Amino acid sequence: TPDIAGDIAHELYTPEQIADRLAEIAAEIDSDYADTEPLLVGVLNGAVMVMADLARALKSHCQMDWMAVSSYGSGTQSSGVVRFLKDLTTDISGRDVLVVEDIIDTGLTLSYLVSNLKSRGPNSLEIMTMFRKPEALQNSVEVKYVGFDIPNEFVVGYGLDYDGRYRNYRGLSTLDPKVYS
Ligand code: PRP
Ligand code: MN
Ligand code: MG
Repeated sequence: TPDIAGDIAHELYTPEQIADRLAEIAAEIDSDYADTEPLLVGVLNGAVMVMADLARALKSHCQMDWMAVSSYGSGTQSSGVVRFLKDLTTDISGRDVLVVEDIIDTGLTLSYLVSNLKSRGPNSLEIMTMFRKPEALQNSVEVKYVGFDIPNEFVVGYGLDYDGRYRNYRGLSTLDPKVYS
């Protein structure tokens, strides 16, 4: 198949910018969780890259678990329906849970997840996302750690996909219109 780079229109963040920002957030998390060992909950599939990089940027112990939900299917628009595809294997009752996301767009996925996880009685529940779009701010979900607020454009890379592709692109970029046609 042709190179991914040929499908890229405009790079919003380079891998280096992403890594630098992630290091700052990891330092905050190390300090905020100095007295407890957080359980990082990654939201499959998009959060795989940020989870791997965030966890390894931490100096303190942490544990990791995964959930899978999907709201987008194969298109570029949120379907408005969150499907629950895989649950945690860890009992989070009494735990300090940090949900890790690649992007918050409408906030629909997270508001669903947060209410679901809160009902299981964690000691604390916070959210970290690498990217956030302005629409998410209209949603009531409180996000403690945000990498970058980005414009309302369809973007891929660093875990974000279009039709299952481009998750392995290291930066965050828009796609050339030819990709959609
Ligand atoms: C994407 C992204 C977030 C969610 C954000 O996941 O990874 O999880 O959408 O959108 P929202 O704030 O509008 O709910 P997607 O549903 O595409 O599944 P994926 O992670 O497997 O790509
Ligand atoms: Mn996702
Ligand atoms: Mg997706």
